[in-house]
Amino acid sequence: MSTIPPSPRRAAVLKGLGTYLPPRVVSNEELSGRLDTSDEWIRTRTGIRQRYWVDPGTATGDLAFEAGARALKAAGVDSVDAVVLATSTPDHPCPATAPAVAARLGLGTVPAFDIAAVCAGFVYAAASAASLIVAGLAERVLVIGAETYSGILNPADRTTSVIFGDGAGAIVLEAGSAEEPGALLGFDLGSDGERHDLITIPAGGSRMRTSEDPADQYFTMQGKPVFAHAVTRMGESSAALLERIGWPTESVDRVVGHQANVRILHALADFLGVERARAVVNLDRVGNTSAASIPLALADAMLSGEVAPGDRVLLSAFGGGLAWGSTALVWPDITAA
Ligand code: ACO
Repeated sequence: MSTIPPSPRRAAVLKGLGTYLPPRVVSNEELSGRLDTSDEWIRTRTGIRQRYWVDPGTATGDLAFEAGARALKAAGVDSVDAVVLATSTPDHPCPATAPAVAARLGLGTVPAFDIAAVCAGFVYAAASAASLIVAGLAERVLVIGAETYSGILNPADRTTSVIFGDGAGAIVLEAGSAEEPGALLGFDLGSDGERHDLITIPAGGSRMRTSEDPADQYFTMQGKPVFAHAVTRMGESSAALLERIGWPTESVDRVVGHQANVRILHALADFLGVERARAVVNLDRVGNTSAASIPLALADAMLSGEVAPGDRVLLSAFGGGLAWGSTALVWPDITAA
């Protein structure tokens, strides 16, 4: 009896990676000069040594454009069928930032939209792009995570001011088969809106358009409970995904978690039962760049050789919403720009 061989499962495959950081480095010492904090506190409590902040006049869309252009170059392509941009610091409350970035990149009239899932935004954007590809609506999608948190930090709040940085990262995803390296093998996404209050900018939206309290226009975060949720949610999400795709935890070569705090990344490794040395850490150099965090960490890991072709790589992110998500891939032989 003859059998028909199964056709390879269509998947979104990673083809290129591009990143951009603004030129201005902000050291812990610089922040210690104007806030009641110290290099020692920041390094020991977060692992961060420095971050990059934009100069006045530079917007999220500018960083997204640079990272997007580099990702297209790295992938060796000059056209895509869609652009998905993850950010919680858009150029304007309305419209989305993605269409202007797509136009500036010379990508024509392709669909372009923003994803607002705060620090989990990049994984949500990748899932949206992969869905477009798997559904046959697109062959190739540019996914960008870009942020300018420096503009929404309360200069008087030492807890948030020392953590966040600006930057952008982008990837090109293309239709291929789930069997080839670079294929995104699945997603685990979730949210818990009961705790939306833990990370918020109180004013500027339809619930509170303006406020007499200037502090309401700034980003606020309740650090301690967010820390606990970050470990549990990324841990549970990662474990659920690994089980679904049939990867034993010990087979994971690198865990690229959202770069918020080195203690969170170590706790995530412990939660999963993975050696801490397998956790990729680049927050010491860039801080927490929210939706740009995962691609920036991947680019640094490629540069240092921590992530190499053939490695099993797990990505997991967590942020305001609360929202979280994980995906995994066998690292392909690609270039980063
Ligand atoms: N310098 C010196 N002291 C500080 C600073 C600072 N920059 N920040 C806080 N402190 C003080 C506090 O005031 C407190 O002092 P007290 O004991 O006298 O009250 C003390 O340090 C301890 O404060 P905690 O908030 O308990 O400090 P913790 O060790 O929890 O660290 C931090 C705070 C770094 C924010 C941590 O909770 C954290 O990393 N949280 C998770 C952040 C995260 O995961 N974010 C991801 C999502 S973000 C997004 O979606 C955009």
